[in-house]
Amino acid sequence: MLAPSQSEEVIRLEKVVKIYRVGEVITYGLRGVTLSVRKGELISIMGPSGSGKSTLLNMIGLLDRPTKGRILIDGVDVSKLNDKKLAYIRNRKIGFVFQQFNLINRLTVLENIELPLIARGIPRAKRIPIAIKALLAAGGDKSWLKKRPNQLSGGQQQRVAIARAIVGSPEIILADEPTGNLDRASAKTVMETFLKLNEQGQTIIIVTHDPEIANCTRKIYLLRDGVIIRVVDPDPEKCIISTVR
Ligand SMILES: Nc1ncnc2c1ncn2[C@@H]1O[C@H](COP(=O)(O)OP(=O)(O)OP(=O)(O)O)[C@@H](O)[C@H]1O
Ligand SMILES: [Mg+2]
Repeated sequence: MLAPSQSEEVIRLEKVVKIYRVGEVITYGLRGVTLSVRKGELISIMGPSGSGKSTLLNMIGLLDRPTKGRILIDGVDVSKLNDKKLAYIRNRKIGFVFQQFNLINRLTVLENIELPLIARGIPRAKRIPIAIKALLAAGGDKSWLKKRPNQLSGGQQQRVAIARAIVGSPEIILADEPTGNLDRASAKTVMETFLKLNEQGQTIIIVTHDPEIANCTRKIYLLRDGVIIRVVDPDPEKCIISTVR
């Protein structure tokens, strides 16, 4: 029997359709995606450009609403929640990592990492040690704290972005092409960070074009034209951690 922590469904999508309307033009982002993710899973989503990967991640991350279908986070149907409640769940339960890092260069590294805690009203004295812990857990270094993000390398910035994503201890981490802008060595470090977080029980979904990233996860979902066409078992020997020295 599976331990409860392994069998708990944290994300459920039922026949999710997303249609974008721009003027008279209608584009299908998703054409009916059903997906179940359990606590502690580490999965990847692959597929050609335009197949709906970012759309799917944005739906799961409550950044946008489906046109049809249901999304459940921890068993709660979020489709019917108002924007305020959605924002609350997003802040508590979900951490995002983006290809372009999306850090704020006006702020220091420390201030960037603190942002999700500010949104929760946690006072500064309490925020700082939590932020430092997150930076170290993300493979970062204390010497970065007072720097601006643009004074760091791409790989270092992505580790700061991961720190910001995990600082509020969200149940779910969603990463959209997190290694897309990185060299191989930095991509490897970032993937090692995700694996370590996953070993500690973090649920992680990674969108990637890179087979050497997807092969580090436990399951690969292949998306095409807005539907999941296949679920593939990764080949751990082709994971970037074993291929890049
Ligand atoms: N905001 C939007 N307005 C209109 N159409 C959109 C919008 N976002 C995405 N689309 C369309 O939805 C489809 C899926 O796009 P999506 O960004 O999810 O693809 P993707 O798989 O992430 O591609 P890539 O690998 O290039 O990032 C595409 O046809 C895209 O043009
Ligand atoms: Mg995309």
